[in-house]
Amino acid sequence: MLPDVHKAFILLLILLDGLRMNSLEFETVHWIWDGILYPQLFGLGGIMIAAAIIGLSTGYFGGIGIPCSSPYHWPDLGILYKRRKRPVRVYMDGCFDLMHYGHANALRQAKSLGDVLVVGVVSDEEIVANKGPPVLSMEERLILVRGLKWVDEVIVNAPYDINEKFLNTLFNEYKIDYIIHGDDPCLLPDGTDAYGLAKRAGRYKQIKRTEGVSSTDIVGRILSPLRAADTDMSQNNVAIHQHHSNTEKLQAGKNLPIGPQLSHFLPTSRRIVQFSNGKGPEPGARVVYIDGAFDLFHAGHVEILRSARQLGDFLLVGIYSDQTVSERRGSHPIMHLHERSLSVLGCRYVDEVIIGAPWEVTKDMILSR
Ligand code: CTP
Repeated sequence: MLPDVHKAFILLLILLDGLRMNSLEFETVHWIWDGILYPQLFGLGGIMIAAAIIGLSTGYFGGIGIPCSSPYHWPDLGILYKRRKRPVRVYMDGCFDLMHYGHANALRQAKSLGDVLVVGVVSDEEIVANKGPPVLSMEERLILVRGLKWVDEVIVNAPYDINEKFLNTLFNEYKIDYIIHGDDPCLLPDGTDAYGLAKRAGRYKQIKRTEGVSSTDIVGRILSPLRAADTDMSQNNVAIHQHHSNTEKLQAGKNLPIGPQLSHFLPTSRRIVQFSNGKGPEPGARVVYIDGAFDLFHAGHVEILRSARQLGDFLLVGIYSDQTVSERRGSHPIMHLHERSLSVLGCRYVDEVIIGAPWEVTKDMILSR
């Protein structure tokens, strides 16, 4: 039998363990491992029941079992509860106006920092108040965000500023562990940091902003042919700054150089791999093929890709080359081939893409799959 001091020490351990498990609900960040299965054994009211079980199973309290006399034989407290890894929930918000592969890449990186990605789509009113009117409506922005394969849950009409009330909602209602944003400063109209509170709470993480694309840049590309018609086409290389207000975006767009050379995007094989599913069709799968330019990826594209995917088991998307688009449409696409490919690859309904697909679907193409 153990001396009384050992019994008291074991009871103390149980008490501490019980208190720790009880605190999990409130300290989600520090305890990503949740105790489950026997929660009723823990907490102050459960101590005696737990102690009685120990006694029964080890003989401490005159019950049956193997008597233990050294610390090496002390019961493993872990057997009283089963440990399970609780999914880490991360939150990223944004306007996601003129959704581009920079947004998609931000959400991809955010997802890699946790298990469940919750995305807050900022309301039209909040965008108007903080940046000026968005180009796309809330409904369109929602379809685009929900269509991305890294997004698990969406909060509609999220605020632009993560104030105390919303921060508490994120922590208590949505069980968010970390709030994530790109590494560019996000300032409110009064000059304060929109993520200041989250940073001070120690629940903020940063991802690298994707170079070479922004909605300002896209507005510039859209406006450039219009501008070409009534200007002397002066090539004015203006640096693109992030977080322009939407009015500034229009102004900046007017100052951008004209034509497809606008793109700053450097396609790398790594980025394409990051966006890919990396799996081909299973043997016997029904492969559906759909092709198009998929320029300025929008809500209509998401809808058609969803419908196409429902027709089979594997969706292959052919994306026309810039040259094919120019020949058929009579003007350059706004986004170039690799940018268009990334936008399509980010869509949850797409399994694979052909980068630079031919206009005509040939017999060879069908047989080679
Ligand atoms: N983001 C990014 N890379 C980009 C553009 C945006 O990583 N090229 C990230 C932002 O840092 C933010 C998220 O995407 O965490 C949502 O951004 P959003 O509020 O929609 O837009 P902006 O940051 O203003 O970017 P843009 O001007 O391109 O809309």
